[in-house]
Amino acid sequence: MRTSILSLAVVVATTSAFTTTHNAPTTAFARTTQLYSAVTEDAPPAMAKPRTKAPIFDEVCETTGVTLTRFMSEVAMLNPELNELTTLFGAIDTACKAISNLVKRSQLPSSETLGYEGAVNIQGEDQKKLDVITNDVLKRALRFTGKLGVLASEEEDEPVDVVGPNSGKATEVIFEEGDRYVAVFDPLDGSSNVDAGCPTGTIIGIYEHDENCELDDDCVGDECTEEEARCLANTLQPGTNLVAAAYCLYSSSTFFCLTLGNGVYLFALDEQLGEFVLTKPDVKIPSGTPIMSFNEANLENWDAPLKGVVQGWRDGTGPSGKNFSSRYIGAMVGDVHRTLLYGGIFGYPGDKKNVNGKLRLLYEGAPMSFIMEQAGGAASTGTTRVMEIVPEIVHQRVPMVMGSKDLVKEVTDAYAAGN
Ligand code: AHG
Ligand code: MN
Ligand code: MN
Repeated sequence: MRTSILSLAVVVATTSAFTTTHNAPTTAFARTTQLYSAVTEDAPPAMAKPRTKAPIFDEVCETTGVTLTRFMSEVAMLNPELNELTTLFGAIDTACKAISNLVKRSQLPSSETLGYEGAVNIQGEDQKKLDVITNDVLKRALRFTGKLGVLASEEEDEPVDVVGPNSGKATEVIFEEGDRYVAVFDPLDGSSNVDAGCPTGTIIGIYEHDENCELDDDCVGDECTEEEARCLANTLQPGTNLVAAAYCLYSSSTFFCLTLGNGVYLFALDEQLGEFVLTKPDVKIPSGTPIMSFNEANLENWDAPLKGVVQGWRDGTGPSGKNFSSRYIGAMVGDVHRTLLYGGIFGYPGDKKNVNGKLRLLYEGAPMSFIMEQAGGAASTGTTRVMEIVPEIVHQRVPMVMGSKDLVKEVTDAYAAGN
């Protein structure tokens, strides 16, 4: 039988964690110890034991509200080793609010932030002005936390040193003692939507960096030794190494969705307060929802197994017997957000032209898969769990489907059967 962390919290907590923890932290520690003897049985192997202790807010959501800042300080109290991570999330919190403002104001003629930058990124995509601006916002926010050694972004050719004397130069990566984390991000996901005012997002993944890395200050590009190149590859970690993943969605509301490896927390921005407020403390993806989210115009070029499953969903001949509806925004954050809340499946598969699809493993596929799995869903290439793929290059693409477990399983079963 599956034990839910939240239902256990109801049994254990007699007062709200907000009040209890505030007045008597030792009680919160004791309660948390009991909470984490509960391990979900249907979790994927790498998640069987939660990596972090999560604060429980079983009543406060409906009353006082819990801000993201408050939430992160509770996390730091329960997990002293994550103290520096909470500083990093302070910066990400601010950056997401700044990007939300930029996206909202972009429609005003005076903002002059719509349209193309006139440059092409390393992946051959035309950069929009807002791709570049939002990348700078995140980079600057993270640089000055003092907690980050290196970052990789969709809009940077190579990983970027954020603390050393060469900071900002894309080919130079330097670690300094005390820098604990590596950040990967897609600063503006779905930027082709932005001119029309449709949903966009930001995706962030946080890894620990290898403490044993020693990089010479003079390490630049090809001059780096093999060992230094290995350190540079700190960004090339599989999703199973993620310490945290988050996305911001800029839509009818601005949302902040977070996992620290023990469930998924959803916050919405209260613009009056200027704070993200916890709205769903334990997001779980529903099953049995007949919604699919693909760019179906590419269907003829997909692998036969996926094509067969999707055709079954279209005409109601799949295992559920239901005729599926299609919902596709064309911005992964928006499509995955809806999938998380309503259930269903989202995917960007490979096709004959682009065998690995379009989504990037490091800063799109892996962080969103971490969130999806933590919400009780699944993410697969069709044959491999996305979280287990070790990236070989920063901008590596990955074909994937993610969403309700039952639907992802239909796809992986079809691949296994070679249908
Ligand atoms: P980005 O704007 O960061 O390059 O990402 C766009 C991605 C993803 O968000 C979305 O799911 C996909 O591109 C949509 O691609 P199509 O237009 O080919 O459907
Ligand atoms: Mn993207
Ligand atoms: Mn992007």
